Amino acid sequence: MAEATFHFPPDFRWGCATAAHQTEGNNTNNDWWAWEQVEGHIAEGARSNLACDGWRRAEEDFDRAAAMANNAHRLSVEWSRIEPREGYFDDQALGRYRAMLRALRERGMEPLVTLHHFSSPLWLAELGGWEYPRVVPLFERFVARVVEALGEFCDFWCTINEPNIYALLGYVQGIFPPGKHDLGAAMRVSRHMLRAHAAAYRRIHALQPHARVGLAHNYRIFDPANPRSALDRLVARLQDRIFNEAFLVPLERGRWLLPMGFGPAPGLRGTLDWVGINYYTRNVVAFDRSCPSELYGRRFHHPEAELLDGGYGEMYPQGIVRAVRRAARPGLPIYITENGIPDADDDQRPRALVTHLHQLWGIIQGCYPVMGYFHWTLVDNFEWAAGWTLRFGLIELDPATQVRTPRPSAALYGDICRANAITPEIIDAHVPELRTVLLPS
Ligand code: FCB
Repeated sequence: MAEATFHFPPDFRWGCATAAHQTEGNNTNNDWWAWEQVEGHIAEGARSNLACDGWRRAEEDFDRAAAMANNAHRLSVEWSRIEPREGYFDDQALGRYRAMLRALRERGMEPLVTLHHFSSPLWLAELGGWEYPRVVPLFERFVARVVEALGEFCDFWCTINEPNIYALLGYVQGIFPPGKHDLGAAMRVSRHMLRAHAAAYRRIHALQPHARVGLAHNYRIFDPANPRSALDRLVARLQDRIFNEAFLVPLERGRWLLPMGFGPAPGLRGTLDWVGINYYTRNVVAFDRSCPSELYGRRFHHPEAELLDGGYGEMYPQGIVRAVRRAARPGLPIYITENGIPDADDDQRPRALVTHLHQLWGIIQGCYPVMGYFHWTLVDNFEWAAGWTLRFGLIELDPATQVRTPRPSAALYGDICRANAITPEIIDAHVPELRTVLLPS
């Protein structure tokens, strides 16, 4: 029998990723809470309510992550708690986050703090949210307060989570607040988010010169349905450009890319110390005259693909390699800031976890500077418009009772993090069906 151990680099970061609104509970003062109260917005009429009760009990889940040998943890701070009214900062809320970060350090986990993960204070939403031009200085001021308060425990910052998803779901598809269908607004919001990122980058470095600042980009793969069809290739490239390139190129070259904008994007270049990739799935795209709103590209899943729960997408582990290759272009360190699948009964997750990590191991052997991996997510949490219907947790949660039950994947992830490797023993114990694939004799 062939034996091989797939070792990760000695200082590799292993963690889970979470977000404030999805886990803290009772975030009553933000746009998401308001959105949830309207019938029809959230699957099965669900609400975030207590979520994972993280505002009160985060430390208990940190214990669970530490027991999985995680040495890092990604979480976000909730702007509406820290600045509940414009210009008024709540020291108690900042104190609670200080306690959380201290608790992570005490458990041997390095915090990676996201400064905006989808939810915004109600007062900002009322001013026009991310369409409001002054959002850039307002975000910068908020970031400065956070860094002053939390900098003692954290120098690893993610400014904004997924500007592309935020603009697409909130301003094109209308399934996230503010529920618009307005391409012009989507472009404005995207530009404001990239400018806010750049302003935050500079402000953080002024306060904390050694800080490492990045942004988490949701990288999706778009493949032509028929690679021999010029039209399919064209529409797939167009989707890739709008979804991926238009958000990456301005930060790399300091120029907007159509259709987000054109001409110089002053101040954007050089505002990344590392690149964050949230990788989940791919789409296959076919030219279709009847889909003008999708830019004539009908998106679907590869006919042979293994599909994920709830129509979430297809399982495509090779995509993580393609995402890393693209993200490596500016020559910066790369972190997988999110990766995971919705899988309530955990019948696909062990395989998904090992195959994605095996792919990641392969690209690291090719000298791509991947420095860490944050699994989405630790405990089932409030999955935005999908409510509680998509379960991404290594640990199952009953939101009504707050009872947590580890899924088999939790033990698997713990074994990988502890070994800093995928070993034959781990494969045999958790995913024996992969032995012939990963360890061919
Ligand atoms: C990402 C989001 C995260 C979670 C996962 C499943 O797009 O950043 O909050 O919803 O998807």
